[in-house]
Amino acid sequence: MLQGKSIIVGITGSVAAYKTLDLVKRLRNEGASVSVIMTASAQRFITPLSMQIASQGTIYNDMFEHPLSHVSLPAAADLFIISPASANIIGKYANAIADDMLSTTLLAYSGTVILAPAMNWRMYENPILRKQLDYLISLGIKTVGPEKGSLACGEEGIGRMADTGAIMESVYTVMTPQDLNSERVLITAGPTREHLDPVRFISNRSSGKMGYALARNAKVRGADVTLISGPVSLDAPYGVEMVRVETASEMHEAVLEKASTSSILVMCAAVSDFAPEKVETHKIEKTESMTLNLRKNPDILSAVAKLQKKPFTVGFSAESGNRIDRARQKMESKHADMIVFNDILKKDAGFDSDANEVTILDRKGEKTLPRMSKDDVAAEIFDRVVELKKI
Ligand code: CTP
Repeated sequence: MLQGKSIIVGITGSVAAYKTLDLVKRLRNEGASVSVIMTASAQRFITPLSMQIASQGTIYNDMFEHPLSHVSLPAAADLFIISPASANIIGKYANAIADDMLSTTLLAYSGTVILAPAMNWRMYENPILRKQLDYLISLGIKTVGPEKGSLACGEEGIGRMADTGAIMESVYTVMTPQDLNSERVLITAGPTREHLDPVRFISNRSSGKMGYALARNAKVRGADVTLISGPVSLDAPYGVEMVRVETASEMHEAVLEKASTSSILVMCAAVSDFAPEKVETHKIEKTESMTLNLRKNPDILSAVAKLQKKPFTVGFSAESGNRIDRARQKMESKHADMIVFNDILKKDAGFDSDANEVTILDRKGEKTLPRMSKDDVAAEIFDRVVELKKI
């Protein structure tokens, strides 16, 4: 997502400085080139050598060793992150003080800045610091964290630097056009489980990766996102409201509760079509053969499409073979506005994979995409939703 972007990472004096090693590595993994500026205090917590290895670039810590870098670095940068941002740098920045390499470069920069504050709670709650921070925010400076928890000094309170995942999410958000910022997006992901007895259930194959990628993408584009998830082993995306469910009827109830206040619904979950008629309270004992009586589960997508105040609805259609016709039929019969088809027989795409190969179908046409990451598929799906909602 950050291919070709140039990012300055400023590090100030805080015990959280070591976390920035990971941040720099992740920025580089996403394709960004990273220039690191360390204050004198930062170098007491983490060595320039460690940062040099992580960033694979020059470490700037002395104005006079790199004359004019305080002008050339900001001129070429797409983003400036201060991680950790001490009370000292916040105070200096808010007062236009430029007395070292970092504060001088920051003052010479006019693009997007993200601050990740980190300090003791007494400093963070000091009204003087808060006033300076609020002033910076009023000028459009972005902040991420700090979080509440146990602080390095052993005290509990607010002041712990946001973790790398949260800082990365705010990086994606500021680098992405906010074209979903007036949307309330409801997404389902993962499988459902239909219990037979206390230890057994019927389920569908689904890792949840596609649905979680959709939730992340909608979030970084500014949407208010709710993710209704069946049982999966994935971390909740940052800033997304999570609703965890197990059965199809729990998912049905959760979706219907939110659907009429949502503007977009993406039914990415692999919902079990059937559930056992009866759930035994004791473990079923083995017999030579057994017959399971199943009842049909409600079709969630169709139920939402019947609502009077219905969101823009997107379904998924996983088929064996190139059954685009069947996917289109599903879009019609379920009254969906769009359906995303994939062929489950294709190798290395779909189930459990980080990649997918899909065709996006809607009432105005269809677009077959090459194999790409699920994050990119998610971006393509919302690009098309945005396009269609404009028509
Ligand atoms: N879906 C749903 N409720 C169900 C079953 C499916 O909302 N009870 C949604 C899925 O989340 C998906 C779309 O409907 O977005 C298509 O799902 P799929 O399982 O392919 O469709 P089915 O109608 O179950 O058809 P079949 O199993 O016969 O292929």
